Amino acid sequence: MLSNRAANITPSITLGISAKVKELKNKGVAIIDLSIGEPDFLTPDKVKEEGKAAIDKNLTKYDAASGNIVLRQAICEKLKKENALDYQADQIVVSSGAKHAITNALLATINPGDEVLIPVPYWVSYPEMVSLCGGVPVLVQTKKEAGFKVTLEDITPHLSDRTKMIILTNPSNPTGNVFSKKELQSLCGALVEKNILILADEIYERVIYDEPFTSIPSLSEEIYDKTILINGLSKSASMTGWRLGYSATNKKLAKAMGSIQSHLTSHPSTITQAAAIVALRACDDEINHMIHTYKERRDYIENFFKQWGKLDIIPPKGAFYVFIDISPLRAKLKDESLSLKVCEDMIEKYKVAFIPGIGFGQDDFIRLSYAAAMEDIKEGLVRFKTYVDQVLED
Ligand SMILES: Cc1ncc(COP(=O)(O)O)c(C=O)c1O
Repeated sequence: MLSNRAANITPSITLGISAKVKELKNKGVAIIDLSIGEPDFLTPDKVKEEGKAAIDKNLTKYDAASGNIVLRQAICEKLKKENALDYQADQIVVSSGAKHAITNALLATINPGDEVLIPVPYWVSYPEMVSLCGGVPVLVQTKKEAGFKVTLEDITPHLSDRTKMIILTNPSNPTGNVFSKKELQSLCGALVEKNILILADEIYERVIYDEPFTSIPSLSEEIYDKTILINGLSKSASMTGWRLGYSATNKKLAKAMGSIQSHLTSHPSTITQAAAIVALRACDDEINHMIHTYKERRDYIENFFKQWGKLDIIPPKGAFYVFIDISPLRAKLKDESLSLKVCEDMIEKYKVAFIPGIGFGQDDFIRLSYAAAMEDIKEGLVRFKTYVDQVLED
């Protein structure tokens, strides 16, 4: 009954962990959830009010398939003000979440057999999305010493005459690392020279703590032309359930992606789009408060690992994740997947949920999400330390 496409999909490990957490919670077990990939803040009140008002104003009919024109203009204003980028409304396609924007981008550019470079560790959905769109995911291992930021040296052995695109996630999920402007300049300059498209997933771009953020298409005209910029409001404005993402590209690609979307899904909900205009134009204070809170948590966690001194982490510079190196446990735990074993033990015995690194292609690591209350983070870390110290002593 199933197509080959459907039969070959592997279920998401992240969702598997969420299901386990839910099951335990339903049984009344108190779980500390440090696995979740969404902000723990509520959507700002102003945004919610605008959504309700949109219904009362009867904004409940079809609109332009690529997204409401006022919203696309608001996105252009944001890109100009925050990222020094010049886009016009006909270069923007508004979609039902960043996932949807990425899918449009792949459908508009990838022919069967085209290769898409995906640096490892990767966000769980990329390889499946590429395969579903007929492409071939080519996994490019990066180095821990480089904070898992992909380099030209990592990429070169994987290049072929079928290489069409690379996916760059900045800030990164799962590592929380952020490329500097200099690193991006040399990497993206070289990629574009080789005629490789760049899919720049910048969904976590507002959540950054130390250095200013550089958006990839701002680097040069050539890079701008060959970059598909992906962003959205799920993470920055805590609007995961509203489903609002967007792409910014050259006009030819925007037209193609808009046509694809017009046939497959059309625009996102008109109610979400009305609310998104307010999120983009009037929620700086609310968003800055969230970032300030994440930063306090990030500082606490970084300090905890420094004082403990037994496990390395990738220094977290953005997003709300910490990637923890659990390889010192390998000598003691002989399981096939180290990260699955550690995460299973932590849930079963210590009632704390993390995501196993194997889901991101990096089995020697686990991902902690600090989109959680500070007291949960503190208690979760104490329990994790107890577990690790015990395993290392055995
Ligand atoms: C790197 C990355 N890109 C895209 C997405 C999807 O975002 P959305 O919920 O807007 O589809 C996520 C969500 O976890 C993500 O981590």
